[in-house]
Amino acid sequence: MVDHKPVVAITGAGDGIGWATAQMFARNGYRVALLDVDADRASQRTRELGEGHADIRCDVSKETEVRAAFDTIAEQFGGLDALINNAGIGSPHLPTSEQTVESFGRILDVHLTGTFLCSREAHAVMAIRQSGSIVNVSSIAGITGLPRRNAYGAAKAGIASMTKSMACEWASVGIRVNAVAPGYVATALVKKLESEGFVDTPRLHRRIPMGRLARPEEIAAAIYFLSSSGASYITGTVLSVDGGWTAFGDAGDAHVPAA
Ligand SMILES: NC(=O)c1ccc[n+]([C@@H]2O[C@H](COP(=O)([O-])OP(=O)(O)OC[C@H]3O[C@@H](n4cnc5c(N)ncnc54)[C@H](O)[C@@H]3O)[C@@H](O)[C@H]2O)c1
Repeated sequence: MVDHKPVVAITGAGDGIGWATAQMFARNGYRVALLDVDADRASQRTRELGEGHADIRCDVSKETEVRAAFDTIAEQFGGLDALINNAGIGSPHLPTSEQTVESFGRILDVHLTGTFLCSREAHAVMAIRQSGSIVNVSSIAGITGLPRRNAYGAAKAGIASMTKSMACEWASVGIRVNAVAPGYVATALVKKLESEGFVDTPRLHRRIPMGRLARPEEIAAAIYFLSSSGASYITGTVLSVDGGWTAFGDAGDAHVPAA
């Protein structure tokens, strides 16, 4: 019997936003390919999702690993309907004068090169059927200036730019390309920054008009919408999902608790 379930590949699907997104697509009838550099976690998550899904160990910054991962997807699932470029790492929050080329390069490799490589390989599979959707994960860091986070901001701004160029290039082959730009999300990545003293959560809450961090599921819902038929005429957009962070341009606290 032919399985007509749509297929999504999600990078960094082992934790945080990627894992919430994997669960969202699975609930909506997708077969999920969970790509992650952490093989044990991805395989545990795949077991949690149940039958019909697959985990693939892949460092998105390595061309040979990305090629092999998409070959496996094409072989195992017979096609690809959606790609979510989500894998990412935090930056070290150092003054520019202390930043090294190695660390700068690694952030660009994972976020920017990873998004490029996975999109290129997904395009090759999607173009066969002349249809598909790619959603990239940018950040408020790619829209505004976050001091000490040069590489991360540059990578996320690059992802927003590449989203637009790929959207225009691939519209004629039926592939839509969009991005979400999340604000601060309560995931392991942010908890680590908090424990290292780089993030002061109560202070952040005051800077966010909605007065709280996002839940991973809220980012997953926006990603799912952009992949869905409800967004059939949307391509090349970068959707802020930030509780109002980038809308705020006034002095002082953005969050004013109701009286
Ligand atoms: N958490 C936030 O506040 C926030 C805000 C804006 C954007 N983002 C972006 O959202 C994405 C997910 O962030 P998160 O907070 O869920 O992170 P997370 O640390 O909770 O999860 C990231 C996942 O990516 C995997 N990963 C890391 N490097 C990889 C690589 N080279 N190849 C494949 N997989 C790799 C990790 O193993 C992990 O499973 C990232 O791109 C991040 O920059 C996060």
